[in-house]
Amino acid sequence: MTAIPLRLSAELTADYCQYLQQQFGLTTTTAPAGWYLCMQQGALVLLNADLPKQGAILVDFASGASNYRRQHGGGKSEAIAKAVGLNKKSNISVLDATAGLGRDAFVLASLGAAVTLVERNPAVAALLADGLRRAAADPMLSSVADRMQLRHCPALQALQNSTAVDVVFLDPMFPAREKSAQVKKEMRAFHDVVGSDDDADSLLAPALQLAQKRVVVKRPGYAGWLADKAPTMAVTGKNNRFDVYVNAAI
Ligand SMILES: C[S@@+](CC[C@H](N)C(=O)[O-])C[C@H]1O[C@@H](n2cnc3c(N)ncnc32)[C@H](O)[C@@H]1O
Repeated sequence: MTAIPLRLSAELTADYCQYLQQQFGLTTTTAPAGWYLCMQQGALVLLNADLPKQGAILVDFASGASNYRRQHGGGKSEAIAKAVGLNKKSNISVLDATAGLGRDAFVLASLGAAVTLVERNPAVAALLADGLRRAAADPMLSSVADRMQLRHCPALQALQNSTAVDVVFLDPMFPAREKSAQVKKEMRAFHDVVGSDDDADSLLAPALQLAQKRVVVKRPGYAGWLADKAPTMAVTGKNNRFDVYVNAAI
């Protein structure tokens, strides 16, 4: 895992810098090379000093696709909602064991689920924490943010030390099909910063142990099953497939 430093700047207060260092073990720098985190217009962002056209990567639940989906999306008819069971019941507890930038978790929380977001990568977890901080301060989003809780730890640890949850959601990295030059910018950043999730198969058995109702695994349409285990059913979305392993009815 590549260590991503935090760039010191006037916009980064000493208190917030100390919080990020303590919570996520980030180191600091004044002259970054390659990927680094820094504060930009009130938000923690991921930038690359060698790729000026890359643009800032951040968790922003208030704009763009996330909020559009919250306001105009398919709601309970979205494939992810059907896969998790939110079309039947809204107050479901979900452990999202591979939270990433929290987009799926935000959709689930917008539909009423209480979501624990587990992320092991320190830089990604710091971006998530910052996105949740801003969402909690936004009157339009605070009720959704209240249903989202971050845990910065490996998924295995969370799966083995968690109170019962209805659903475990897994979305490990999957090798992109496109040639690297065509891979979207954010995906390239993720592949650089996070790498590949080689232990993904090992998460299915503990997830099935913990989930009271079901485990949902998000996969690209062309990908095989996680741990080669056939699901009970699959829900096919526009860009992805959700493999559903049912333990009990929702
Ligand atoms: C494809 S991304 C998830 C994207 C996410 N579903 C979203 O909507 O933004 C996978 C993420 O899972 C994290 N991850 C993978 N394996 C993990 C593990 N064993 N424990 C904790 N986090 C893990 C990676 O660091 C990465 O950030």
